[in-house]
Amino acid sequence: MLKNYIITNIGQLMGILPKETLLLKGEEMGHINALHNAFMEVEDGQIKSFGLMEVCPETDAQIINIHGDWLMPGFVDSHTHMVFASSRHNEYVMRLQGKTYEDIADEGGGILNSAKKLQDLDEDVLYKNALKHAEEAMSEGTLALEIKSGYGLTVDAELKMLRVIKRLKNNLPIVIKSTFLGAHAFPAEYKANHQGYIDLIINEMLPVIAKEELADYIDVFCDKGFFNVEETNQVLVAAAAIGLRAKIHGNELGLTGGVQTAVDNNALSVDHLEHLSDVEINYLLNSETMPVILPGSSFFLKIPYAPGRKMIDAGLPVCVASDFNPGSSPHHNLWFTWSLACLYNGLMPAEAFNALTINGAYALGLSESHGSIAIGKKACFIQTRSFESINEIPYWFAQSHAKKVWY
Ligand code: NIG
Ligand code: FE
Repeated sequence: MLKNYIITNIGQLMGILPKETLLLKGEEMGHINALHNAFMEVEDGQIKSFGLMEVCPETDAQIINIHGDWLMPGFVDSHTHMVFASSRHNEYVMRLQGKTYEDIADEGGGILNSAKKLQDLDEDVLYKNALKHAEEAMSEGTLALEIKSGYGLTVDAELKMLRVIKRLKNNLPIVIKSTFLGAHAFPAEYKANHQGYIDLIINEMLPVIAKEELADYIDVFCDKGFFNVEETNQVLVAAAAIGLRAKIHGNELGLTGGVQTAVDNNALSVDHLEHLSDVEINYLLNSETMPVILPGSSFFLKIPYAPGRKMIDAGLPVCVASDFNPGSSPHHNLWFTWSLACLYNGLMPAEAFNALTINGAYALGLSESHGSIAIGKKACFIQTRSFESINEIPYWFAQSHAKKVWY
């Protein structure tokens, strides 16, 4: 990709924010700053300047005229499970026949099914599968990404997943953050011995992860039938000791204390939140934890949608992510997620845009380099056709509007 260039005749340059803005919350989320008929100058892969066309500088850099197309910051997908062995379409059919996600998990399907398939799979095959997904997501406009482990559930298989994520980090031109989710489910052999599996995570997995620098964050599925609050705390405390900040799966299946546990551990984010009462909303208001909502999994599992409207009206920030995974959200197209967030979580189009960009960046600790147009930030943009208004973008649901991606 080009390192130095000027993009000219940008019909609308969207998502301009002061560099020090790390996130947007409450009413702030409803605004998008934009310039009409603008230029953007990039040097060494970073935004050097931008402004109206009439003040476009004359330089030797290559000029790329986009003839009125729009330009926006790349999406930041702060929650994915992009490394997995294969699809779970058989469980999809079981759900069509009337079983619930929890029924299937109780029968040894679900996450344990993905783990069984992944444990036997060669690392190179796993890498190639994930690379294909990542490249597809990039072509749709996802230009920073989080990937979790959690389909290994043995020492070897969890480390294999994390090594695959590390290879993706090294070989792809976008920023990828790695999250260790060994505490995604209890393997069948530890069903009656939860402490045994927690000890395995703490004593066998975390030390290797620290030594090989295999993770940026720690995640636990703190929910009904998975890890309870006390079990979650044990894992988070041990992970904090090796410098891993938490991003928690919480409140997907019930009001189970996931939000409080996340906030008490100063988690960077707490994700899902399909079940959320005023108590959790107030808890989040006094915290630095980003609430992340995942409309793709509500859509696919036919479970309630997180109350995004209520959260923003209460003054909270909200982030939206894909939750791309083979069990509850087999899609990574954030344009579709944008439409779902508007139609079913109650966000306005501008709010969902901010949720997918600057707030996504916050949920990955990337606000200083990603998520908005600001001098010094990484030059990663999505070029789209022009629209009558930003409101038109999520209206055209289930299609990618990325005409070209810049990174
Ligand atoms: O975010 N809820 C927990 N984990 C994943 C789904 C995992 C699976 O079903 O494979 C999620 O939805
Ligand atoms: Fe998830």
